[in-house]
Amino acid sequence: MPDIENNIKDKHKDLCAQIRHHDRKYHQEDAPEISDAAYDALRRELEALEDAHPELRETPDSPSRSVGAAPAQGFVKVRHAVPMLSLANAMTAEDVQDFLARVRRFLSLSDEDGVDVLAEPKIDGLSCSLRYENGRLVMAATRGDGAEGEDITRNVQAIDDIPKTLAFEGDAPEVLEVRGEIYMRRDDFGALNARLEAAGKKIFANPRNAAAGSVRQLDPSVSAERPLRFFAYATGEAGDGVPTFSTQKDLRDYLGACGFIVSAPARLCADADALLLFHEDILAARPDLPFDIDGLVYKVNRRDWQARLGFVARAPRWAIAHKFPAERAVTTIREIRVQVGRTGTLTPVAELEPITVGGVVVSRATLHNEDEIARKDIRVGDHVEIQRAGDVIPQVVAVLPEHRPADSVPFDFPQACPECGSIAIREAGEAARRCTGGLICPAQALERLKHFVSRNALNVDGLGERLLARFMAKGWVSSPADLFDLPQVNAGAAEPLETWDGWGAQSVRNLFAAIEAAREQPLDRFIYALGIRQVGQATARRLAAACLTLGNWRDAMARAQDRDGEAYADLLAIEDIGPGVADDLLGFFAEAHNLAVLDALCARMTITDYAPPSRAADSPLSGKTVVFTGTLSTMSRDEAKTRAEAMGAKISGSVSKKTDYIVAGADAGSKLEKAKTLGITVLSEQNWLDMVSKN
Ligand code: IVH
Repeated sequence: MPDIENNIKDKHKDLCAQIRHHDRKYHQEDAPEISDAAYDALRRELEALEDAHPELRETPDSPSRSVGAAPAQGFVKVRHAVPMLSLANAMTAEDVQDFLARVRRFLSLSDEDGVDVLAEPKIDGLSCSLRYENGRLVMAATRGDGAEGEDITRNVQAIDDIPKTLAFEGDAPEVLEVRGEIYMRRDDFGALNARLEAAGKKIFANPRNAAAGSVRQLDPSVSAERPLRFFAYATGEAGDGVPTFSTQKDLRDYLGACGFIVSAPARLCADADALLLFHEDILAARPDLPFDIDGLVYKVNRRDWQARLGFVARAPRWAIAHKFPAERAVTTIREIRVQVGRTGTLTPVAELEPITVGGVVVSRATLHNEDEIARKDIRVGDHVEIQRAGDVIPQVVAVLPEHRPADSVPFDFPQACPECGSIAIREAGEAARRCTGGLICPAQALERLKHFVSRNALNVDGLGERLLARFMAKGWVSSPADLFDLPQVNAGAAEPLETWDGWGAQSVRNLFAAIEAAREQPLDRFIYALGIRQVGQATARRLAAACLTLGNWRDAMARAQDRDGEAYADLLAIEDIGPGVADDLLGFFAEAHNLAVLDALCARMTITDYAPPSRAADSPLSGKTVVFTGTLSTMSRDEAKTRAEAMGAKISGSVSKKTDYIVAGADAGSKLEKAKTLGITVLSEQNWLDMVSKN
């Protein structure tokens, strides 16, 4: 490049070096030194220089040639062909016995029928779904919210335990999804932290965080340097060519034969005693295992039974995680703070002298409510024993009175909201004291916003508590609908987001794109996102299934305000909705300010009609209201209801004009009589079996 002045070449070289330096800091070391805005400015300067002197682009290592090496958008979302579920927990021997009893009851087993259960260690890592097409790995995805995860295909390339092609004797199956856990061994974790510490970088709190943090690196070359491993425990979608397994054990053996490492040691147990014995053995062996485990997973061995047992909410009925006992430690309480939740509940939290419990630094514990503090007489300055179990918030199990400071006084629980000063009342029969400030309480507003954008609600990436709190402090956002106006508000702001420390044009674009993408939501997610007390995901789904459209739902809630009317009876007829939940729902709709929030949201969002599970769409029960009565001889009532719901039916507990079918087992009583007088179609157990067996 003879005709370019030397000072321009120097300038170019300098810019390239700076950008490469910051790329490395950001993508590989997780330790950016400058804000996105400053980085963007460097990039623009380079672009301008190269526009003016196009020859400079030929410099082999110019960063302008490598734009997009790491996806700036973060990870690409992928939908799971088969949802990835979680597990219910058992903490005690009794919970395990209950689990087996539930399984037996659901399947209507006789006393002679044995239930074999496969037990295997539960390794605490990051769950991952691997998709193989014709034997070749084509996609790796995180669990995400279970329905949709993130594409981490490039990040798992260097994990040796994940075969890139599968070993098969004959033709490889067209599709095989293998699910399992990415984890880090204890010794590898120790070595990694030592390395990070020596380099002056942030270390990880435990092997689980290290595994998750290492996989979720935008730059796959960083993941590649991390000592990750994988074990397989399940399949997802399985196409032609994958055998039908009759037992979980067969499935496990197949995964092993395909080239995967499966969770070990495992044992096939014939009853609760055998499971509990294995649990004891593994608990004793736990300190010597090379990896952290947080319990065992028990799975009903017969796959035909697994299929019948199906799922409740998002966990299989045929499996359970038997957790190991919580780990405990003693520390002191520095301070007791009272937090205000989304629905105004005042929750006391102990600020602790930080202490390591089971490999994790703990500095807070929940104190539940004011009665709990009084009952245990928990005071500031006390020595307390705390415990931590899994991901739950640590708890105070006991106060050690012998160490109590002489001047300590009982904790005086506030009678007013610490955030907005409104009075906090306790209704009869309730453990919680609640702030009466409603929308004027900033804490409630913030918690509501957090819930609104959370993973199972609108799932807006990159909008965390701190950012929401800043938006609120600026007056940009006070209620959920304001989020959708953020881009306009930001454009007109004196100090737009782009100028904030740590923000640049690209990160602002990403945030606004995530908000934009959240505008369209199915009815069930939308109902859940509203954060109405006692309306969790399952209840939201049932409401959506019963009403189908947003308009119907609002209409039904308005009409149900009349407690003597038909709409109220319809509401109570929905499975799992009792008078308590109905009170909270109707209470929400009785408040003008909530209706205003709803209107504002509806003006900005598209709420799509409830879509029943796909295979239900063309079933004869789709959209039908079904009542079960009497005793069925071939399956339990629970199994029957589950099957009906999976086929798109709405289950009701009482007969009315809206009932489409009544399934009458033996000894059906008054419901059957009523159905007959109303002229409702009565199905015998055999009619019912014919109907479900076709689906
Ligand atoms: S089976 C449908 N087996 O634990 C059942 N899960 O708490 C799917 N996990 O999301 C789970 N070890 O990531 C299963 N041996 C094991 C496991 C295991 C760890 C994880 C898994 C799951 C989570 C639930």
